[in-house]
Amino acid sequence: MTATSTDQQDVHDIATLMRRRRMHREFDERPVPRDALETMAWAATRAQQARSGVRHIVVVDDPAVMTAARQVLPGFINNAPAMIVHCTDVIRAAQVLGPRGVEVTSRLDAGAACAHLALMGQTLGLGVCTVTSWTESAVQALLELPEHIRPDVTVAVGYVSTSPAPPARGFQTHYHHNRFADGA
Ligand SMILES: Cc1cc2nc3c(=O)[nH]c(=O)nc-3n(C[C@H](O)[C@H](O)[C@H](O)COP(=O)(O)O)c2cc1C
Repeated sequence: MTATSTDQQDVHDIATLMRRRRMHREFDERPVPRDALETMAWAATRAQQARSGVRHIVVVDDPAVMTAARQVLPGFINNAPAMIVHCTDVIRAAQVLGPRGVEVTSRLDAGAACAHLALMGQTLGLGVCTVTSWTESAVQALLELPEHIRPDVTVAVGYVSTSPAPPARGFQTHYHHNRFADGA
């Protein structure tokens, strides 16, 4: 098997994508084609969801909006040319699932969507950075969201080097078996 065919095989191997997954804050200047962003947004829509009709996805590739995002979202510390924003219709969430729909399940839906679109991005040579350090009102004003549409997460998207430097740090997870005490 040639190196090229191995690479092509790896890029669609889910375990390989998970192992290579990392956040990126430095991106190429190349704009991201709209169809690539739509493919990532589609992946987000395929993520698990507690109830239908709650999730809204906003794809942003207007350079003026991206410039404004960097000015009004303090956590958006990257040079990405595009972003995908996962939002929740809080009225619909309350109707179909009550307060837990607004405060719990829709947040889980948002996390699942982030994981899906990030993995899809990797298959397209695109990297992401999940960003939540901002106020909801700032994102609502930036994207002209109606009051009942709550932004959950903004995900920076752009092309990354095929061999980026390793991430600065690894986050630790604690595993437990059967009971909390049986863990490391
Ligand atoms: C829910 C969530 C919120 C985050 N918010 C921000 C943020 O506001 N700004 C930012 O630059 N990175 C943010 N990150 C990225 C984390 O800091 C990142 O996961 C961490 O640097 C570890 O990098 P790694 O995922 O590449 O291991 C966020 C990540 C998650 C999962």
